[in-house]
Amino acid sequence: MDPGSLSTISEFILLGLSSSREIQIFFFVIFFLVYVAIVVGNFLIVISVIFDNRLHSPMYFFLANLSFFDLCLSSVATPKVIADFLRKHKTISWWGCMAQMFFMHFFGGAEMSLLIAMAVDRYFAICRPLHYKTIMSRRVLIVFLLLAWTIGLLHTTSQMIFTVGLPFCGPNVVDSIFCDLPLVIKLACTETYSLELLVIANSGLLSLICFLLLLMSYVVMLVTIWKHSSSASSKAVSTLSAHITVVTLFFGPATFIYAFPFSSYSVDKFLSVFYSVITPLLNPIIYTLRNQEMKSAIKRLFNQRIGSWMST
Ligand SMILES: *[C@@H]1O[C@H](CO)[C@@H](O)[C@H](O)[C@H]1NC(C)=O
Repeated sequence: MDPGSLSTISEFILLGLSSSREIQIFFFVIFFLVYVAIVVGNFLIVISVIFDNRLHSPMYFFLANLSFFDLCLSSVATPKVIADFLRKHKTISWWGCMAQMFFMHFFGGAEMSLLIAMAVDRYFAICRPLHYKTIMSRRVLIVFLLLAWTIGLLHTTSQMIFTVGLPFCGPNVVDSIFCDLPLVIKLACTETYSLELLVIANSGLLSLICFLLLLMSYVVMLVTIWKHSSSASSKAVSTLSAHITVVTLFFGPATFIYAFPFSSYSVDKFLSVFYSVITPLLNPIIYTLRNQEMKSAIKRLFNQRIGSWMST
C-alpha cells in the first residue's frame, strides 16, 4: 500500500527518552551494553541446547525457542533505538514504523503463547509425571511451536490490518523510543475508537487473562509439589519460581501498556523500555544463573570449542 494515498506525512518523529545530549550518550552506552548482553546470552542458550544431548528435553527446547524469540523481539527496535540516541533528529519512515509494530506484536504474541506452552509442559511434568513422556512427545512439541508462530501471526495481523489503513495528516510526533500501537493510533486523523477497543481487547485483555491463568496454574503446581514433597521438589520449586518471574516480567508491562493504553502515556514510555530490553536480558540471566544443568552445559560448550580450537 502506498502511504501517500491516505496520508500527508511519510515519516514519524520519535522523541526518545531525553533531550539532553549527555543523558543520551549515557543511554547509548547502557543500551548498547545491554543489547550485546541480550544477543550473547540468548545465543549461548540456543547453541547449548541444540548441541548438548543432555539438554534434549521439552523444557530445554522450549527454553531455547524462548531465547530465540527474545533475540528477535529485542532486535526489532533496539538497534535503531541505540543509533537514535546519537541522532539529533530521530525519524522513522511510515513503513519502518508499521514494520516495527508488526514484528513487535508478532514476536510478542509468539512469546506469549510459548510461555503458556511452557506452563503446560511443567504442569504435565509435575501433576502427571507418569504420563509426561508420552504426552509431551516430539510431535506435540512441534505442534506447540507451530501454534506459537501462528498465534503470533494472527495476533499482529488482526491489529495491523486496520492500522496500515489509517490516514495520518500530522502531527507526527511519537513520544517514545519506537513506534508502538497506542501511540501511533492516537496520531491518526480519523475516528479510531473501534480500533482502540480492538487493541485493548487483543493485546491488553488477552495478556491480562493469560497472565492470570498462568499465575493460577503455577500456584496449582506449587501446591501439588508441596503436597507430595520429595527429594526432587526443591529443584522443581526453583524451576517454577524462575518461570513465574519470567512470566511476571513479560506480562506485567504488556498488560499495563495495552489494557489501559489510551489514557495516560508517560509511564508507557518507560514500560516499553522494559518490554524491549529488560525482559529479553533477564530471561537468560534467570534461567542460566539459577539452573545448574544450563550452567554446566555452557561450560562444556566452552571447553569443547576452546579445546578443539587450541588443538588445531
Ligand atoms: C525449538 O524447539 C525445537 C524442538 O521441537 C528444536 O528442534 C529447535 O532447535 C528449537 N529452536 C531453537 C531456535 O532453539
